[in-house]
Amino acid sequence: MTSIEPALDSDRPAMEGLLAGSGLPLDGLGAAMPTAVVARGETGVVGCAAIETYGSAGLLRSVCVAHDLRGTGLGRRLVGAVEALAAAHDIVELYLLTDTAERWFPRLGYRPTTRASVPPELTASPEFTSACPESAAVLHKRLNV
Ligand SMILES: CC(C)(COP(=O)(O)OP(=O)(O)OC[C@H]1O[C@@H](n2cnc3c(N)ncnc32)[C@H](O)[C@@H]1OP(=O)(O)O)[C@@H](O)C(=O)NCCC(=O)NCCS
Repeated sequence: MTSIEPALDSDRPAMEGLLAGSGLPLDGLGAAMPTAVVARGETGVVGCAAIETYGSAGLLRSVCVAHDLRGTGLGRRLVGAVEALAAAHDIVELYLLTDTAERWFPRLGYRPTTRASVPPELTASPEFTSACPESAAVLHKRLNV
């Protein structure tokens, strides 16, 4: 049984291991830990998702599932849980950058948008300025709050 729970600071090394194993950026993860969730299975942390907060906007990042558990619905559950956490922090607009899952996030209600429409606080974040290439897709979702 895999449960989805708010991330603890002690989960960070395991989260970084997952992210590094999928080539996802680690920069900025520390600041996003208060609004991060993990999937906990028998072997420990098997998935994660996090949000960097910028007022009423958030950057969804670090969505990752252990290789052997992909395709079991864990990714969808993680995003649902981190969206609920975001809403509890009064975040209304979520943005994300991806060059690996631009066809997966639309299944969860995210729609492509332009970099020009992203709030400037987010475009100054490490993911926008350095971690993700200029070619990465930008997607947006308005949460129902
Ligand atoms: C993207 C990711 C989080 C999805 O997690 P998951 O637990 O496999 O997703 P779910 O089980 O909820 O959904 C599985 C479905 O999505 C599809 N899917 C999974 N990853 C996909 C991707 N990158 N692009 C398009 N479709 C994808 C699967 O084929 C499956 O389709 P089906 O239901 O028709 O069989 C996972 O593949 C992952 O960790 N990828 C590496 C990290 C990454 O790219 N993260 C996103 C950038 S922040």
